Amino acid sequence: MKPAVLVCRAVFPDIVDRLRAHFDVETNEADVVWTRAELIAHLQGKAGVFVTGTQPIDAALLDACPELRAVCSMAVGYNNIDVPACTARGVLVSNAPDVLTETTADFGFALMMAAARRIAESEHYLRSGAWTKWSVDAFAGTDVHGATLGVLGMGRIGQAIARRGALGFGMKVIYHNRSRLDAAIEAELGARWVDKATLLRESDHLVIVVPYSAASHHLVGAAELALMKPTATLTNIARGGIVDDAALAQALRERRIAAAGLDVFEGEPAVHPELLTVPNVVLTPHIASASLPTRRAMANLAVDNLLAALGAGEHAGRPPTPLNPEVLG
Ligand code: GLV
Repeated sequence: MKPAVLVCRAVFPDIVDRLRAHFDVETNEADVVWTRAELIAHLQGKAGVFVTGTQPIDAALLDACPELRAVCSMAVGYNNIDVPACTARGVLVSNAPDVLTETTADFGFALMMAAARRIAESEHYLRSGAWTKWSVDAFAGTDVHGATLGVLGMGRIGQAIARRGALGFGMKVIYHNRSRLDAAIEAELGARWVDKATLLRESDHLVIVVPYSAASHHLVGAAELALMKPTATLTNIARGGIVDDAALAQALRERRIAAAGLDVFEGEPAVHPELLTVPNVVLTPHIASASLPTRRAMANLAVDNLLAALGAGEHAGRPPTPLNPEVLG
């Protein structure tokens, strides 16, 4: 009998077919966002699960699904998965790094530019029919080229954004990260490590790319926003909860910072109501990695991990991107 696996959300049919060649696959064609109880019910008897960044996988769920051996996510961020709880139960966990780096950096840069140059705000104005004449300071924003780019969280995506800023736009790059980059990478990016307060004070455009954890919850709140320049922009493409959305909405309304670009929100898909009413913020629905080739690559990588983790045919072996390789022995 083939092992059974669950694909939690609707994904590309040909990618699901790769799983069907080896497993008894249950899918969620209707793309229902299952409750926790529904997810547990669908997981009964499953050896593996294909998840996205949104299904919470914790100790209690694992205890209710004792046959589960592999949790393979098509997201790079894995704050929805309790990795130590999986490791303690011998459950392999994988995420999908690298394949989305450049696409996500493109989007972060686009959102930052849209905020700086007031693209969404001016488009809404035009669509509303309010545009009757050219004027000298209409929607005058801030420059990106030559400005100081501040990167909070200098992992793969942060570095890809820094590269765009330094090489493409002549930006001065500063960053804050727990660990400093190698001197050779700092030199390539022209990037300088600074403490968090200096990053907030000196950035013209702050881009947030840190992973979410208890330690990064509200890493940028009222106190941090108060350090920023009134002409600065803030872009968050990391996770909701890293920025205190209520404090950000207030800072935007009071023009204590110029603008923001947000792809992620605390409690998404709900969005803080104040953010929906302030004009100087560009809001997108968690789509930073959403180019078709990249979303396909992410899903394929999750499948590669699932096939390897459950020892499927010629794919048996070491999963390509495990988060807890220690369970492999
Ligand atoms: C998207 O947010 C991801 O973590 O892949």
